[in-house]
Amino acid sequence: MTDRGHASAVAHVTGEALFVHDQAQRDGNALYGWPVQAAHAHARVLHIDEGPALALPGVRAVLTAADVPGTNWIGPARHDEALFPDEVQYHGQPVCWVLADDEATARAGAAAVRIDCEVLPALRSLDAAIAAGSFHTAPQAIAAGDVAAALAAAPHRFAGELRLPAQEHFYLETQAAYVRPDGEGGYHVLAATQHPAETQATVAHVLGLPAHRVTVEVVRIGGGFGGKESQASGVAAVAAVGCARTGRPVAIRLDRQRDATITGKRHPFLAKWRAGAGPDGRLVAFDVELCGDGGSSLDLSKAILARALFHVDGAYAVPALRVVGRVARTNLPSNTAFRGFGAPQAAAVAEEVQDHVARALGLPPETVRERNLYRPGDRTHYGQPVRDAERIGRIWRELLASSRFAERRAAIAAWNGAHAHHKRGIAITPVKFGIGFTTTFLNQAGAHVLVYRDGSVLGRHGGTEMGQGLHTKILAVAARTLGVPESGVRIVSTRTDQVPNTSATAASSGSDLNGAAVAAAARELRQRLLPHAAALLGCAPEAVEFAAGSALGAGRAVPFAAVVEAAFLARTSLAATGFHATPGLHFDAAAGRGEPFGYFVFGAAVSEVEVDGCTGQHRLLAVDVLHDVGDSLAPAIDRGQIEGGFVQGVGWLTCEEVRFGPAGELLTRNASTYKLPGIGECPAGFRVATLERATEPGAVFGSKAVGEPPFLLALSVREALRDAVAAFRGPGPVALDCPATPEAVYWAIHGRPDAEPPAD
Ligand code: MTE
Ligand code: HPA
Ligand code: MOS
Repeated sequence: MTDRGHASAVAHVTGEALFVHDQAQRDGNALYGWPVQAAHAHARVLHIDEGPALALPGVRAVLTAADVPGTNWIGPARHDEALFPDEVQYHGQPVCWVLADDEATARAGAAAVRIDCEVLPALRSLDAAIAAGSFHTAPQAIAAGDVAAALAAAPHRFAGELRLPAQEHFYLETQAAYVRPDGEGGYHVLAATQHPAETQATVAHVLGLPAHRVTVEVVRIGGGFGGKESQASGVAAVAAVGCARTGRPVAIRLDRQRDATITGKRHPFLAKWRAGAGPDGRLVAFDVELCGDGGSSLDLSKAILARALFHVDGAYAVPALRVVGRVARTNLPSNTAFRGFGAPQAAAVAEEVQDHVARALGLPPETVRERNLYRPGDRTHYGQPVRDAERIGRIWRELLASSRFAERRAAIAAWNGAHAHHKRGIAITPVKFGIGFTTTFLNQAGAHVLVYRDGSVLGRHGGTEMGQGLHTKILAVAARTLGVPESGVRIVSTRTDQVPNTSATAASSGSDLNGAAVAAAARELRQRLLPHAAALLGCAPEAVEFAAGSALGAGRAVPFAAVVEAAFLARTSLAATGFHATPGLHFDAAAGRGEPFGYFVFGAAVSEVEVDGCTGQHRLLAVDVLHDVGDSLAPAIDRGQIEGGFVQGVGWLTCEEVRFGPAGELLTRNASTYKLPGIGECPAGFRVATLERATEPGAVFGSKAVGEPPFLLALSVREALRDAVAAFRGPGPVALDCPATPEAVYWAIHGRPDAEPPAD
């Protein structure tokens, strides 16, 4: 473990950290690109008049499909996105791009381009797509047990519908790429992409080049949150087309409005459920239909739906569970990966059902939740044993105790009795999150580690640094494996010409996969150094230990650098590659059976809120978290991930609202109209603890993934709000819209006067 903070912390704070656009500006000779965006949600492009743009001084080119040397079709799973479309699929889609000497001129040029369109009918909502039978995928299903029979036999039956909203990524660095000719017929792409290998492949296909002519490099990303897993590649491909056409370096950096209107968001979902329970609230049957809004192209929607299917159980065992899901196709920006990747939407449904059942039966929600938790020996609906399920119960009991839940429940009841217009609510919700890409082959990573004659170490791996602290963790892994101080190791930028064919840094697996690959390379080097250390120390190789910058053995110590020098003089290779493929993963999609995950991350959160009944406004008074990170590689970073993930989840569930206008145009396209969580939405008291005795045997130094699972802890806030609403309303289930904005909470308390018909 490392006790240092983020390796780039100082550079982030001082502004010295270089991002893509900084590099372009430093070089100073790039052309800048700006999109010409469609003004219709669905339209055929009849004519593009570039003349007025080209007449502007400083405008160098208008890029259209005619400039694409290779294929115009991109997309991570299905190549169904036209880089330069002749049929517009959503309002704001870039139709063509203007290149100019500076951004302001490119922007003026883009405003001058005239596009003639034939407007076509558009599907501007999930409901409209479902009604029209517009889907990207066939239904996918997973089932365990006989749900129909279990429902029919259940003592109590319940049903409901829940809509889960979109969410804008709002990474601080907007989508950006900077492409330079390498002077040898190839291209160097500096990109803010979570998936350098896919960006490389996309650029190569669009330029009609073999992959070895395209190098993608990522120094750091100013936040990705999934939004740069697939959707960073399009911007890089346009810049590459511009570079190929003009022979000049080309930089593209979207501004916030362009980014928000062009790129996809978290998938909205519609969930319809039926559940059967015993009188004690234990679920005996759960039947769910999920429909995700994929937007205009497939993107990663199928895998996102799959992760939703895998997480609709929440942390609860149900003997008979059936889930069927489908991805709808709308004329909206293509929705994409976002922290949790479908699991938050699914887990929200699981918690909705727990709360509904509890309140319908007049039981405390925490009692019903506890009764339904997975226990040792249980399997999920897709047949994977819930290994370490004892941790769920352990976390639950420890958190109830440390948060003084029972005491606070009683105090809140008393407080509510004394306050007519304000009520408080409290809730505890569990998390179970499967770690690993559900697409099995993606669970691989490569790395290489070089040792120089002075004993300094340079490491490179396939993962990207997006603020989550991956490089900091990898530094710790390399240093620990070689027994050198962290100051003796440097982790450098991710490059496709150094480590090939890597997976996206996603699915929270960055440190698991790349950490294991770096550890493998470092172990290989240690093996090669051992005989030289043994010779210097005068002991057997098995007796040598590397620690704190020295080789130790026979009661003596020699500096690491001296061992390296001896190995070098003996003509030893001091460069090693490492590779990791997670063992034991398999999933049969047709059967809906297998073990798609290496392990599960567990956690739980207690949230307490106060609601103003006159306005629906609410405050998050206190949050207690107990979360499982295994043996942390970097406790300060893991804490940041837990807090940051939680607050991002609070934003999704309580204040962020993505809204489109009647023409399918995004209305919430800037921080002025899109309410992000600010300091006011952060809990007044935030107590975060990590689970003790939590070593993860298969993973690097016993650590567990941390990036996404804490997002789901925020469901406790939604459930606490519902608890407060119940205090106004009295017994019985509480319908609460998502996000639970003040308006939504207000209507949950007072009831909507009359449901308006949907806009479509
Ligand atoms: N933390 C920061 N600061 N910035 C990010 O963009 N992305 C999240 C999470 N935490 C993100 C973040 C997402 S969606 C994932 S999948 C993981 O980090 C990816 O990194 P890891 O696999 O190295 O944890
Ligand atoms: N998570 C994140 N990204 C992915 C996944 C996943 O499970 N599968 C493919 N891309
Ligand atoms: Mo994260 S949504 O897997 O990039």
